[in-house]
Parts: sequence; structure tokens; C-alpha cells
Amino acid sequence: MLIDSHAHLEMSEFDHDRRNVIERAISAGVEYIITVGTNAQLSQKAIALAAEFDNVFATVGIHPHDAAAADDEILDKMKELARQPKVVAYGEIGLDFFRNISPRQKQIDVFSRQMKIARELNLPIIIHDRDAHEQVLRMVEESGIRRGVFHCFSGDAEMAKKCVELGFYISIPGTVTFDKTKNIADVVKKIPMEYLLLETDCPYLTPVPYRGKRNEPSFIVHTAKKVAQIKSLPWQDVARAAAANTKKLFGIKN
Ligand code: NI
Repeated sequence: MLIDSHAHLEMSEFDHDRRNVIERAISAGVEYIITVGTNAQLSQKAIALAAEFDNVFATVGIHPHDAAAADDEILDKMKELARQPKVVAYGEIGLDFFRNISPRQKQIDVFSRQMKIARELNLPIIIHDRDAHEQVLRMVEESGIRRGVFHCFSGDAEMAKKCVELGFYISIPGTVTFDKTKNIADVVKKIPMEYLLLETDCPYLTPVPYRGKRNEPSFIVHTAKKVAQIKSLPWQDVARAAAANTKKLFGIKN
């Protein structure tokens, strides 16, 4: 049993074959897919997909790349979307000081305001953090939110421990299958399975052996196998534990 805890099925990369992608995931043993909104329009599309497919849940949020356009009206709209059926978390939200597509101060403001919405609605949060570790940790700490996940984790094992202490899960993407990812392998080694989730972040971050192609939820089995190899565990145990963690975090009942 597998769960893809972070996919972007709503993105246009899947417009021509979305149903086939979801069917391939089911055939590969993927029980649920969490499809993650990154702006108002795509969040709405994620909600529509969750309504259409039994095995899909949605989240809503404004990604730091999209923060520049977020005004009061859009944030009110996000709050309304966050209340829709099958929305299991608020995100992805956070800071991206690597690409800086939105101005930093605007990212900080929009992240902070969205954590307030999540807190008010009692939703766990999905965090995007790129080259902003200290600031993200400080803001999460100050938010009072103690339930969520650091998606596509890019910190070291010491930071991962801090996240776990704050009540957060660490999500491992397909990049763990790449050769040059000692940092993430070290995190996988040192953080107990009860705090780890698995994700594709598809259509991005395609794992080996499909690197170079579009990523999709069925490929998550390769990430599970790599994590299992690092932890010297049967991959089915890793898949089962990560799935149970994902259900617990997002309040998915069976
Ligand atoms: Ni993502």
C-alpha cells in the first residue's frame, strides 16, 4: 500500500491523460493521491479532481512563487476554498529564497497570512522551503501550528529533528534516488520511519529510472524502495508506515 502525499495532478502537464495517470497509480498499488494547489485557480481545479476521483484528496494554497499576485480578495477566496469537501490541508505555502520569483517581503507576508487561515480552520499545513530554513522554522514556531509536513525536504538531519520536535513530518521526494543526494539520504537514515512521508511532487522531480520523463504518482514505488534500501527495511514496510503517517496527518479515515 502506497500514498503519494504530494502531487500536482491539477497542473496542465496532466490535462491530456489525467485519467490514465490515475489508473496507472491504482495498478501500481497507490491507494490515495493528495493533489496540492499552488494558486487560487489550480486549488479550485484540485478540489474538482478530488470530487471526481474517489482516491484523490485536495489541498489549497498559494505557493511562494505565486505570492506576488495575492491580495486580500484572493486570500478571502482561498479561505473559502479551504472549507470545501475533501480538502485535507492548507498548502503548499512557504518561502523560496532560491528562485525569488515573488519579492521576499511579499512571500513572508503571504506565508504568514495563510498560516493564520490554516490555524483558524484547524488544517495541517504543507510547507515549501527553499534556501529559507531559518526564517521558515522561526515563522512556523511563532504561528503556533504544530501539525504539518515539510514537503520535498531540503535541510539537514539537524533541521529535520527540529521540524519533528515541532510536530511536523518530513516528506521524501524522488530526488533521494539520485546519486548526489547525500544530505537527504542522511535525513532518511537518522529520522525514524514514524516521521517520514513519501511524495512524487509530480510532474517534477522524477525518480530514477524515469529521470528526464514527466513524473507521475505510480513512480512513487521507486522512492519507497530507495528509502527502504537506506533504512535496511522491506520496502513494503516503508510504504505501509509512510501511508499510515499520511493518513494520520491528513485525517484520512481508512
Ligand atoms: Ni509541490
